[in-house]
Amino acid sequence: MTRSFTYQALPMRVVFGAGVLAKLPDEVAALGLSRVLVLCSPEQEETGQRVAAALGERCAGVLAEARMHVPVEVARRARDLADELGADGCVAVGGGSAVGLGKAIALEHDLPIIAVPTTYAGSEMTPVWGLTEDGEKRTGRDARVLPRSVLYDPEMTLGLPARMSATSGMNAIAHAVEGLYAPDATPIISLMAEEGARALAAALPRVVADGSDLDARAEAQYGAWLCGAVLAATTMSLHHKLCHTLGGTLDLPHAQTHTVVLPHALAFNQPAAPGAVAALSRALGGARDPARELWELADRLGAPRSLAELGMAEADISRIADLAVAKPYANPRPVTRDGVESLLRAAWAGAPPSPIEPDQEERT
Ligand SMILES: [Fe+2]
Repeated sequence: MTRSFTYQALPMRVVFGAGVLAKLPDEVAALGLSRVLVLCSPEQEETGQRVAAALGERCAGVLAEARMHVPVEVARRARDLADELGADGCVAVGGGSAVGLGKAIALEHDLPIIAVPTTYAGSEMTPVWGLTEDGEKRTGRDARVLPRSVLYDPEMTLGLPARMSATSGMNAIAHAVEGLYAPDATPIISLMAEEGARALAAALPRVVADGSDLDARAEAQYGAWLCGAVLAATTMSLHHKLCHTLGGTLDLPHAQTHTVVLPHALAFNQPAAPGAVAALSRALGGARDPARELWELADRLGAPRSLAELGMAEADISRIADLAVAKPYANPRPVTRDGVESLLRAAWAGAPPSPIEPDQEERT
């Protein structure tokens, strides 16, 4: 096919390197801000305080209440506190929960966000927000929620435990994988995806072997940045649909679910995505079957490889398969009920991912 695409860059300012947290006051000043509210989760309060200390007099306060899926009550409290303290911006320290809280405030109040990521989730690169009210999660895209500046300091990831580093990293690789075969893939983003997957796949075993290896941490974070940028620029497909269905319906843990499903979703799509397979093969040291290689990587990282061990009952497989095919969405290979069910069965059991033979429907 002749090359054809539309590429629209998102604004992005990234300050990367060990020790760049010390530059935070300068970043705050460069944005014209004078008092910023630090947001983090209760588990990360100590890290939040460290960031507050780095900010000095530019810190308006610390709110350590960020939680998964951004409950609307927490967003309201954060907004009121920002008002009360006269904060003119937020510094979100942590992963998706802290950045998500910052986005919720930015959405309603236009308070600019600076992000200091401590995981490999990548949401600091995206204009996607989410808010949960009465058990229902609304999401959307809005340029106002995109952080104005992101400080990637690998020292801030040293405390991320090996297990979480592994699954957070695999979750990031999933963005690269789906970005490579996305309907809106573009050449620049595909380069970022390939390089992001390469950096993470090479760094994660080193991170898991020695969590204090700053060089490995920097490589992993570099990969996570790229994968986050891919997530922001492309439409995600079958893998994300499955993970969101599993997470939303059965409340399975986010990063672990992505880690288990990814090899199987990729194996399903590989026959229909030769360009992505070629890029991933290069990224994964020449692996002929990238899906299989990711499955083996998860094992080397000591990460979970079956949905059963995440607490999913076998009886739920068919319900999830029904839900996953209910609404049509972009995918390189036509998604069939049978195809989804067999890939879920393999993921549930922890079996190796296997390419599924094209069925009748697809051949016609
Ligand atoms: Fe994701």
